[in-house]
Amino acid sequence: MEHPEEALRLEIKTDVRRIREQALWAGLKPGMRVADIGCGPGKTTSVLYGLVQPGGEAVGFDASRQRIEYARQNYGGGDTGGNGIKFVQADISGLAPGQAGLFDFIWVRFVLEYYRSGSFGLVKKISELLRPGGVLCLIDLDHNCLSHYSLPPRLENTLFKLIRALEEKADFDPYAGRKLYSFLFDMGFKDIDVNVSAHHLIFGQWKQEDLYNWFKKIEVATSKINFPFDEYPDGGQGFLTEFLDFFKDPRRFIYTPLIACRGVKP
Ligand SMILES: C[S@@+](CC[C@H](N)C(=O)[O-])C[C@H]1O[C@@H](n2cnc3c(N)ncnc32)[C@H](O)[C@@H]1O
Repeated sequence: MEHPEEALRLEIKTDVRRIREQALWAGLKPGMRVADIGCGPGKTTSVLYGLVQPGGEAVGFDASRQRIEYARQNYGGGDTGGNGIKFVQADISGLAPGQAGLFDFIWVRFVLEYYRSGSFGLVKKISELLRPGGVLCLIDLDHNCLSHYSLPPRLENTLFKLIRALEEKADFDPYAGRKLYSFLFDMGFKDIDVNVSAHHLIFGQWKQEDLYNWFKKIEVATSKINFPFDEYPDGGQGFLTEFLDFFKDPRRFIYTPLIACRGVKP
């Protein structure tokens, strides 16, 4: 999802109340040292930081320089990190435990969906940053972008083909959510718990922020893989127009299962 407005898209769609609920459910407590892996624009990190006060520390890691700059500007921390919140530009797959120190709690939300072929390897790498007895909380979507009713047949067919193409060509994983429990199980984590809820729940009157989020997703995804849109005489534009009509119809129903999974490192 690399594009100049990605920090803004993530910022707009972040629901602070739900992040708080999920983090408390997973066991985040005051005084902990928490890492937010793939922190995006830093909004989630700032919420996690609030929950570990007093006395706790939060570090947001992201591979994108643009997102880390945005996070530093908007959520403090400066280059070196003041007041216990800090943002570090780093590709997590190359980060050694000694570099960042160990964490009591690690939060990974909406990152594994970009690693269909390598998500378990990445989770193992991330768990090296956790102290024994620390909590790992993985959150991702299942049937990502695929649960809409009622799509016209051409739109449904194209959407499924598009997601399949993203799986094959861009390593996107629309089913990342269902894998999280097995990852923690296979690593021998204890006290594993799972919570399933609805994300992107849309019915009735459309909202500007939802429209923006979906259109940015489609725009960026299609630009990544040069998808042909064979069933539309005017190509991608025709697909977008039909999706817009569907999206604005108050009868349509959209949701995505969100799966949160937490466990304790042995
Ligand atoms: C969809 S955003 C999610 C942001 C945030 N976690 C949230 O829940 O809103 C995914 C973020 O993960 C970052 N990311 C992806 N792979 C990464 C990696 N290997 N190391 C660090 N960051 C990564 C991307 O740059 C992007 O900002």
